[in-house]
Amino acid sequence: MFADNSLDAERRALEIGRSFLRGNADGAVVDVGHACPSTFPALPEAGVGELEALETYWSSHGGQHSRSSGPRYFGFVTGGVTPAALTADILVPYLDQNVATERHSIAAYIEELALAQVLDLLALPRDELSGVLVTGTSAANLACLAGARQWCGQQAGYDIAEDGIAGAPRITVFAGTPHTSIHKAMSTLGLGRRNLCEVPSLPGREAVDTAALAEALASRPGTQKIVVASAGTVNTGDFDALPEVADLCERHGAWLHVDGAFGAFARSLPEYAHLAAGMERADSLSVDGHKWLNLPYDCGLAFSRHMDRQEMSFSADAPYVPKDGTLPAFMNRAVEQSRRYRALPLYLSLQAYGRAGFRRIFEDNCRFARRLSDWIDASQDFERLAETRLNIVCFRGSYEDETVDARNRDLLQRINGSGRLFMTPTTYKGRFCFRLAASNWQTGDGDLNIVTDTLTQAFGSQTA
Ligand SMILES: Cc1ncc(COP(=O)(O)O)c(C=O)c1O
Repeated sequence: MFADNSLDAERRALEIGRSFLRGNADGAVVDVGHACPSTFPALPEAGVGELEALETYWSSHGGQHSRSSGPRYFGFVTGGVTPAALTADILVPYLDQNVATERHSIAAYIEELALAQVLDLLALPRDELSGVLVTGTSAANLACLAGARQWCGQQAGYDIAEDGIAGAPRITVFAGTPHTSIHKAMSTLGLGRRNLCEVPSLPGREAVDTAALAEALASRPGTQKIVVASAGTVNTGDFDALPEVADLCERHGAWLHVDGAFGAFARSLPEYAHLAAGMERADSLSVDGHKWLNLPYDCGLAFSRHMDRQEMSFSADAPYVPKDGTLPAFMNRAVEQSRRYRALPLYLSLQAYGRAGFRRIFEDNCRFARRLSDWIDASQDFERLAETRLNIVCFRGSYEDETVDARNRDLLQRINGSGRLFMTPTTYKGRFCFRLAASNWQTGDGDLNIVTDTLTQAFGSQTA
């Protein structure tokens, strides 16, 4: 059944992958007109073998991938894949380790070590936080909030993991501008989306108004409380004032969760560290691997100061699971029991580039965002809607009239339609706009020229 040409197929996959990466420099970043096929052929009775399956896939669909690993894919917060991460990820399925527990493998040790070294990068204390690798920041938020939920129940003498959410004390989550994955975690965990108390932001900002947060916390004396703070909002890269938020949490007996998907890494840069100061006081923290660390999908990191609470939620000890070993049973810290060896790309990248290498990526991206912001500020055609604090630029075409949103929708279509760059839209303070997130290790000065040139042309083509 299995052909002996698998080595040819592996070689061919590498060849395809390499040529795809080379094409990122000048291939269309996205094809905005792309439509997926509408038919779903039946499972073939007989297989065609690895090589032919690969060739058929590539000849049919090779040109239909977005170049999200390239330097001008600025949508969402999308990292690329560094060479070290790529190399390690190639090895992962060869080894096919299941990092549920130690299981006679080095893999769990490497995960623990990689988590500790990320804490080093974040200038956070290794001995106060425990972690687990998950599939992304949404999964990290879910895992951390499960720990928070358990803690809240126990504050009132109730064990939610054992007795269920139905009879649990009321829990309110307070947040300024939470990422949508927080809403998702709340509905999944039985906390209920309606129990999110949305606290106003500071004028012209996405950072929470801490006076309003203080009022909101004081106005709910009878409930258990979780505060979700943002270290890097997705629209504008804004930061809550974590020291003040942490003080309020202490005063009101609230759990502090920080979503630091990409913004947490500001802590590694002397010029930006102040933005995320106070993060060390969080009860739990989510960070992303596949964004700014430029690891392949899927990698997120969930840290907690009270991992025992998280383990109460996720613990799944079974008689067939070996309990020997001194390392954490990672399967008891989040949803997955069988777990990919996603620690390897993280670990090898940290060794390959060290703190200095990652700082360089972050600094380059922040400089890119700053320089683009300066260009926008000097331009008659575009306007910035928010201060550029880190690596995200939030802006739009400047039009005076009431068609501003419609014209900007059209403008974004033209920009993305050029194939030279890709940005995602958003609505910021009720206004349609674009957000450009620089988070790829390859994005450089040449790309800035391409971006400004494309923006100028797209604006000109619209008004011509
Ligand atoms: C601040 C923040 N939190 C959470 C997420 C969700 O992360 P993921 O897509 O890795 O699940 C994102 C993604 O953009 C984010 O920017």
